[in-house]
Amino acid sequence: MTIATAHESNVGDATVGTVYLVGAGPGDPDLLTVKAHRLLQGCDAVVYDSLVPREVLDLVPEGSERHFVGKRRGHHSVPQPSTNAVLVALAQRHRCVVRLKGGDPFLFGRGGEEAAHLVSHGVFVQVVPGITSGIAAPAYAGIPVTHRRAGSSVTFVTGHEEIDKVRPSVNWQALALASDGLVIYMGLHNLPRIAAELIQGGRPAETPVAVIQQGTVSGQRCLKATLATVADRTRDEALASPSIVVVGDVVAEQIEACAPQPAAVTMPIPF
Ligand SMILES: C[S@@+](CC[C@H](N)C(=O)[O-])C[C@H]1O[C@@H](n2cnc3c(N)ncnc32)[C@H](O)[C@@H]1O
Repeated sequence: MTIATAHESNVGDATVGTVYLVGAGPGDPDLLTVKAHRLLQGCDAVVYDSLVPREVLDLVPEGSERHFVGKRRGHHSVPQPSTNAVLVALAQRHRCVVRLKGGDPFLFGRGGEEAAHLVSHGVFVQVVPGITSGIAAPAYAGIPVTHRRAGSSVTFVTGHEEIDKVRPSVNWQALALASDGLVIYMGLHNLPRIAAELIQGGRPAETPVAVIQQGTVSGQRCLKATLATVADRTRDEALASPSIVVVGDVVAEQIEACAPQPAAVTMPIPF
């Protein structure tokens, strides 16, 4: 089997391996890219998060090293500097290291930070895009994120804001009318405030909203509500992370008949 060679523009020691920042897709193993599948089957080490099903990890050869560096809200997580250090150390011992991330590595996945760290340490690095949950989870509920009648623009936005404000904060009121559709990642915890601010920003209270939990895998649920009701309904019906929230008229364009069957796999990996 052929493994892609290191990117020529990288500068580094010839004895250092390559770290592939690989998108695992949203969970259903059938949504892995061909390249991700090939790299997983040929890697010497894999470093993974919790939003990856066991069945995808099973593609990794038995003798390969496995490192779990998952982060989940409310739990102690492996600090980013430790993950960075693990990746550099593995690249010094192995030819092919897969850094496996749920969805796409560059979409709310810290892939950019890890790539910059690796390059600054002389490690070859290559990104392998994946199918993001913000498109796949709605699709598995039959909801298109754009639609000629209902949505010409869509914004991917995080609903999880760090207390320390390392990242710039989202101006929800300004977003309310700036985009036909919103796809909100990590939005459950702040949903009451997000919905209230979108309404304050001019979005009608009756705007359709969908919350898709565990998209593409066992336990997938899809709740439909409006901006006015979604926070209470989500709490009352106990929707949990990981969930994607879709706001906009595209939700009313749902065609359930086209939704694939979620895959019978377990995700997140319990830890
Ligand atoms: C740290 S972000 C990572 C996003 C990832 N890089 C992507 O492109 O999908 C984690 C969030 O992605 C969303 N997510 C990931 N997998 C999901 C799934 N299978 N179903 C619903 N939401 C998911 C949830 O909002 C979750 O809190």
